[in-house]
Amino acid sequence: MLLPMATTYWDYIRVEQLLRLQGGIEDDESTITDHEVLFIVVHQVFELWFKLALRELTTLRDLFKQDPVPEESLAGAVGSMDRLTRIFRSAVSHFEVLESLNTRDYLDFRDKLFPASGFQSAQMREMEILLGMQDEERIGLGADGKYLEALKDPTGQSESPAFERVKQRLADKPSLLSAVGTWLLRTPICGSQPGDEGDEAAVEGFLEGYLVALRGATDQTIAEVIGTGLMPEDKVHARYAAEIEQARDFFFPDDLRLRRIRAAVLFIESYRELPLLAWPRKMLAKLVELEQAMVVFRQRHARMVERVIGRRIGTGGSSGVDYLDETALKYRVFKDLWTVRTFQIPTDALPPLADTTPYDFSERFDA
Ligand code: HEM
Repeated sequence: MLLPMATTYWDYIRVEQLLRLQGGIEDDESTITDHEVLFIVVHQVFELWFKLALRELTTLRDLFKQDPVPEESLAGAVGSMDRLTRIFRSAVSHFEVLESLNTRDYLDFRDKLFPASGFQSAQMREMEILLGMQDEERIGLGADGKYLEALKDPTGQSESPAFERVKQRLADKPSLLSAVGTWLLRTPICGSQPGDEGDEAAVEGFLEGYLVALRGATDQTIAEVIGTGLMPEDKVHARYAAEIEQARDFFFPDDLRLRRIRAAVLFIESYRELPLLAWPRKMLAKLVELEQAMVVFRQRHARMVERVIGRRIGTGGSSGVDYLDETALKYRVFKDLWTVRTFQIPTDALPPLADTTPYDFSERFDA
């Protein structure tokens, strides 16, 4: 291709091409209202943010699927996570612009949308899949259920570009969840690595020691709660005993791979001050931050929808706001990262580590 001698803003950004894309179904901006153009523009802006987010997520996934993940790339990965969260946070603020659309403004053109809906946003589905959401975790939508069905061409039920995108993404493995899991699996726990002799015992020893410390910290909490006199003693004991049981169930699943991954998350969170755990810990914090930003996106979208259309059925056929609220409550990918928070204890209650040298920079550089 022959490049022009001097680049212009309009050629580089493709301004004219971009500005021709807001004509709606009619493909003619002059025949639609300002309200409808706003509706189209805000959706397009979201799709552009989603495009960027997908690129960042793919790069991150590719980084974490390496074995080993180069230590020096973690700072960049954390930067990438930070960008992703910023994208979601600022995208959410666009809902506020769309809320300037009042109910009648929207109803005036809404009927021509059926059965189109954000439910058909292939890029949203791609992000969920790339992050690691499983099909069986999805909430069914109306009679026909499947999100993939909604991505087919509504006339002939044939495939569509949206369907094709999502199908390709489903085949593109591993997910970020899975890649990060494999990376976490290799974390040295009390200096022991998978494949080392006695690794299973080292992991179990760490977890058992931690549960003793958790019980100690919980006893202190129990004493404080009973001291307030606000709840009968037996109830307090029963509640906290159940929490300890939950911790044991969570940290000792039969699946040993999962057990080691959960132990690694706990180890990193507990001893994050050790130099070699600092960046991994930051990465875990960023994953939670991103997921939180996505949950806020879902909640904020639901509140905007409630304000604009009330509790009526969605154009995509869902119950509307109730469906959206359910997704905000239930859709989580990095569940273990959230759960470990329930069982963390204060710094002075942590079991001391016998040997911290495997987590020192000096140890690494001497080797
Ligand atoms: C007035 C504006 C909007 C209304 C009334 C609205 C309404 C709805 C409703 C009712 C649903 C549930 C599915 C259905 O039955 O249709 C939905 C889903 C969705 N909407 Fe919106 N929406 C609006 C704007 C937006 C914008 C600007 C975006 C940004 C991309 C968006 C993204 C989505 C996504 C991704 C879903 C699928 C959620 C899921 O299944 O997890 N919506 N919308």
